Formats: sequence, C-alpha cells, structure tokens
Amino acid sequence: MHKGLFNLAWVMAILATSVSCAQLEVSYEDSVAALLWGNVASDMWSEGVAWLNVTGFAPAKLPNVQNNVGLLSLDNWEGLNAIVDLAQVAVNQGLWGDFVLLWSAFLLNGWSESLNVSSVQIKEALWKAVADQTSGEVDANLVELYANTSSSESLRKIFADLQSDANREDRDWNKVVCSGSNQAEKSHCASLIDYVQRSPDRVKWGVRAVCWRNCCISWNQNASFEMGLLYNAARACIDTCTRSDHVSCRATEVSLEGTVVNQCLSNRAEGC
Ligand SMILES: *[C@@H]1O[C@H](CO)[C@@H](O)[C@H](O)[C@H]1NC(C)=O
Ligand SMILES: *[C@@H]1O[C@H](CO)[C@@H](O)[C@H](O)[C@H]1NC(C)=O
Ligand SMILES: *[C@@H]1O[C@H](CO)[C@@H](O)[C@H](O)[C@H]1NC(C)=O
Ligand SMILES: *[C@@H]1O[C@H](CO)[C@@H](O)[C@H](O)[C@H]1NC(C)=O
Repeated sequence: MHKGLFNLAWVMAILATSVSCAQLEVSYEDSVAALLWGNVASDMWSEGVAWLNVTGFAPAKLPNVQNNVGLLSLDNWEGLNAIVDLAQVAVNQGLWGDFVLLWSAFLLNGWSESLNVSSVQIKEALWKAVADQTSGEVDANLVELYANTSSSESLRKIFADLQSDANREDRDWNKVVCSGSNQAEKSHCASLIDYVQRSPDRVKWGVRAVCWRNCCISWNQNASFEMGLLYNAARACIDTCTRSDHVSCRATEVSLEGTVVNQCLSNRAEGC
C-alpha cells in the first residue's frame, strides 16, 4: 500500500507539551480548527483497528451518534487515535458540535481532503448526525445545539448551512443501490478492494469497517470472517455505479460466513 498522508502527530505533540489548562484549551481549539482546513498532513503510515465507543453516551445530545465503531484503518490508525483523544476533550468541555465533527472525521478515516471545511464529504457526514434516521428530516434543535457548542466559526457555519441542504437520490439495481451521498474516490476504492481480495487475514468480531484513504467498506452486523469475502459485493458496486469516478453504494443480503449483512462502499466507516 502507499503511504498515508494524514496524521495528527503534531496535534498530539501540542497536546502533550501543554501544561496548564488554559494552554490545553487553546491548543485543542487550534487542533479542531486545523482539522477543518485539512492542513494536517504528514508522511506517517500506520495500520490497526481504532475504536470510537459511544453507545449509551449522552443520548439526549447525541441521538444519532450511538453506534460503537471499530475501524480497521490500513493507513491512518495513529490519526484516528488522535481524533479519539480530541473527542474526549470535546466531551469533557461539553463541545457537542466539535464532538460530532470528530466523530465524522473518525468515520471518514481521517482523510484530510474529506475533512476540508469546503468539502461536500464533511457536510454529508455531519448531516448524518442531525438527520432523523428513519425520516431523514433535519432536526433543527440538534443543528442549533451543535452550532452553539462548536469551538470554531467555520464549524458553526457548516451546521447553520446544513438545514438548507437536501439532494440525496438513490438508484436501485437489483441488490446494489448506488447513492449520490458520501461518495469515495473510485481509485482509492480500487486499491482497497484489491488489498481486501488478496488479504489472508480474518476480520475480528466487533470491527465494522475497513478503510484505505477516503474509501471504506463497512457492514451493518457484528461478524467475523475472511476479509476476502468483502470483495465480491464491493466489486459489484464499482462495476454498477458507473456514472462517475466516485462511488457510494450499498449491497444488500451479503453473506459473511453465515452472517447476512448490508455492505457499503463509501467514504465513511458507517453506512453509505
Ligand atoms: C480545501 O478546499 C479549498 C477550496 O476548495 C482549497 O482551496 C484548499 O486547497 C483545500 N485544502 C486542502 C488541504 O485540501
Ligand atoms: C470499544 O468496544 C470494543 C468492543 O465493543 C472493545 O473491544 C474495545 O476495547 C473498546 N475500546 C475502548 C477504547 O473502550
Ligand atoms: C443556542 O444559543 C442561543 C443563544 O445563546 C440560545 O438562545 C439557544 O437556546 C441555544 N440553543 C440550544 C439548542 O442550545
Ligand atoms: C460480537 O459478537 C461476538 C461473538 O458473538 C461477541 O463476543 C462480541 O461481544 C460482539 N461485539 C459487539 C461489539 O457486539
């Protein structure tokens, strides 16, 4: 695999060298603001499963952010762990808006181009946190709460803009549904599924996604299986969603060693 580009090592360095609370606060806010400008690149490469465990946590503030996510990152494990650390700080300060941003950044594998404040990816990711999961309606109270509890002006503005966003059309082909939302770059997905196909590894229980750069394969049930089994549905997605050089797609009724799942190919570690 190529070297990953995104890493928050410098953010961790800032946090580690801060001594007083006041300094920590400034550094934290700078870190979150920096995330939104995507200017956190380095050459470091790291692989591993990172966890963001949120089930049962502040359900009144985070009603749509309640699923634990175990993400096998093939390139940005350290960046994801730095994001988890920042998320902890956000929670301790009651910065729910920041927390939702960090949750989104985690689900996007910390891919810097997706995190750019002007990217459609980050807007779609944040939209998942404010939209009712069945009706898809944006919850105005949540938008206001998250805007009120964001540490940066640009993040407040993104939340404010969310309400006017719509435009998510899905297209159906048999058991593969191509989506206009949360699209990943096909070139990244092609590398990812090539890796997955050749991997001799097993995916462990609890892990729900494998990501490379801005592309993720995710599944909606707890399962353990040979990683190569993810290949066929992912391939079908790439082959079916031919409208552009980007892809977001759901394949239903995929059997992973007996567990039947919906499998997604998109830019995020949870759904498509
Ligand atoms: C973020 O997006 C802006 C506007 O599209 C662009 O000018 C900038 O270079 C991007 N930053 C990164 C780090 O990709
Ligand atoms: C998160 O949850 C998973 C399983 O649900 C567990 O294996 C993991 O250790 C947890 N991680 C943390 C940091 O709590
Ligand atoms: C957001 O802040 C405004 C102004 O401080 C306040 O009136 C409003 O009640 C807050 N909304 C939420 C949902 O916290
Ligand atoms: C997934 O299933 C395994 C085996 O049944 C179980 O041990 C594990 O706790 C489950 N993990 C989660 C995150 O539900």
